[in-house]
Amino acid sequence: MPRLFQIPGSLLLAVVATSVVAAVSMTAQQPLPQGHAVRNGVDTIPVYSDSQATAGQAVWTKTCSECHESKDVTGADFRTKWAGQPVFTLFEQIRTTMPDGNPGSLPREDYAAAMAYILKLNGLPAGATPLAADSVALAGIKLVLPPAPPGY
Ligand code: HEC
Repeated sequence: MPRLFQIPGSLLLAVVATSVVAAVSMTAQQPLPQGHAVRNGVDTIPVYSDSQATAGQAVWTKTCSECHESKDVTGADFRTKWAGQPVFTLFEQIRTTMPDGNPGSLPREDYAAAMAYILKLNGLPAGATPLAADSVALAGIKLVLPPAPPGY
């Protein structure tokens, strides 16, 4: 009889369970690398305020979370697509396509707040001044987003 079958089932189960727990906690421990912003060529400037991000979280919970989990706006696909892009491009895409089925239905400030919350989820730092909802200001801010860890 092969040696494997002499190991008591409960021990085998414990070993399997332990390695599953270890794998899960390893995944959880891997932090999402923080993004930052470049405004008009100058690095690491806070581009939104914390209270705006809090307002944006409320918009997200009320209007966006019905269809989205936060991974949709932080994960590998998102980061690959939006790294290096102006914040305005993402803002405009959201404003003109979301919420799906009723695009443009929110006040412009709510889109800016949701944008601020998305920046916060990506680890960008908050500062004193809210993200302006105007196109010229938004076009001058570029997103720097390091790739998300594999499988994130
Ligand atoms: C009724 C469902 C629904 C709601 C509500 C909704 N979305 Fe979406 N969203 C989608 C779908 C579906 C897609 C994919 C569309 C596509 O790829 O063409 C999407 C795509 C996106 C993307 C693009 C992601 C990428 O990587 O390009 C962003 C950003 C986004 N939504 C943000 C939001 C925000 C912010 C809100 C709330 C203001 C919101 N969505 C509300 C369904 C929804």
